[in-house]
Amino acid sequence: MGKRILVTGGAGYIGSHTAVELQNAGYEVIIVDNLSNSNENVIDGIERITGVRPAFERLDCNDKEGMQAVFTKYPGIEGIIHFAASKAVGESVQKPLLYYRNNLVSLLNLLDLMPQFDVKGIVFSSSCTVYGQPDILPVDESAPIKPALSPYGNTKQICEEIINDTIHAGAPFRAILLRYFNPIGAHPSAEIGELPLGVPQNLIPYLTQTAMGIRKELSVFGNDYNTPDGSCIRDYINVVDLAKAHVIAMNRMIERKAADNVEVFNLGTGRGVSVLELINSFERATGVAVPHKIVGRREGDIEQVWANPERANNVLGWTAVESLDDTLASAWRWQEKLRERGIM
Ligand code: NAD
Ligand code: WQD
Repeated sequence: MGKRILVTGGAGYIGSHTAVELQNAGYEVIIVDNLSNSNENVIDGIERITGVRPAFERLDCNDKEGMQAVFTKYPGIEGIIHFAASKAVGESVQKPLLYYRNNLVSLLNLLDLMPQFDVKGIVFSSSCTVYGQPDILPVDESAPIKPALSPYGNTKQICEEIINDTIHAGAPFRAILLRYFNPIGAHPSAEIGELPLGVPQNLIPYLTQTAMGIRKELSVFGNDYNTPDGSCIRDYINVVDLAKAHVIAMNRMIERKAADNVEVFNLGTGRGVSVLELINSFERATGVAVPHKIVGRREGDIEQVWANPERANNVLGWTAVESLDDTLASAWRWQEKLRERGIM
């Protein structure tokens, strides 16, 4: 068996794709997930893709005794990838305590337990949301952290600070903070993908559900921004590309190749794409029309942000390789699969 890695939130969207890539690279994966935003069928999907069923513990990371029992049951866990978190920006404004408790306590528990079980490092899921609207684009990791626009965004900033402070105080492990831009798409097998509960808040699931006829039309939030076509610009990163970066980061940490005890990397393509460009790409890639209309701006939206991914390119040796069209086609295949399975 390969080295043991604990993947919290491994039944979720990015965690499941990462579990696949970790297993493909020979790691032994132990998933802890409370299924608050996912389904146990995802574990079957990971098994169908890789031929290996990861260990799965249905557990809340906020349950410290339960987490301790996991480290005892699976001795020798070398690294943790911590995806488990609540992530809906709008909900976090309505229920801030839920977000602070879920996202902060789960991290505190892991950091407390790591030295006891001799875990070498933790990879943390951070977000480009920490940059707010950057003054300079593309944004690199040295850009200032801007005041968070939501409790969710604030949890990412606070978690980064907690990890930094803990390691600077001499904790015997390392950390890599990965700041994701906008992860989209699905595994090419369409065995796993993004499973939004209820009405999607994010662009791609809303778009694919509209293309499927589940939603009447996609609302484009604003065409009066200071961008070439007036709609907002983001850096859409393929989820499998993103997952592969985690494997490289984990390897770097447990092989002690990291230059610093805490490292930070942007994970993006380096290319900014507007909402209207994205709709065009989807229609071109799939041949399926997306009924849409322009509506007013969405409160709290950043006008434009895309990554300078050079540090990840040069230091990790990782580059996003999937094209936007292929990525959108994968999102569509996943939506079709959900329809076939009668899920949506
Ligand atoms: P997701 O909701 O699909 O996955 C998160 C998983 O964690 C879910 O399976 C959920 O059931 C689980 N979970 C939540 N709280 C838990 C707890 N207390 N104990 C155990 N399991 C718990 O979300 P995702 O899109 O895969 O995001 C993964 C991580 O990446 C999150 O930390 C998120 O904040 C971060 N992130 C996501 C995006 C994005 O756009 N998807 C962007 C930047 C950062
Ligand atoms: C993308 C673009 C919308 C829906 C959020 C979080 C961020 C990070 C990623 C976790 C924007 C537009 C959307 C729709 C639209 N998550 N849009 N119609 O807002 O960039 O980032 O997810 O860390 O923290 O804030 O992603 O997918 O919601 O929006 O026009 O129905 O699509 O205005 O320009 P966002 P998104």
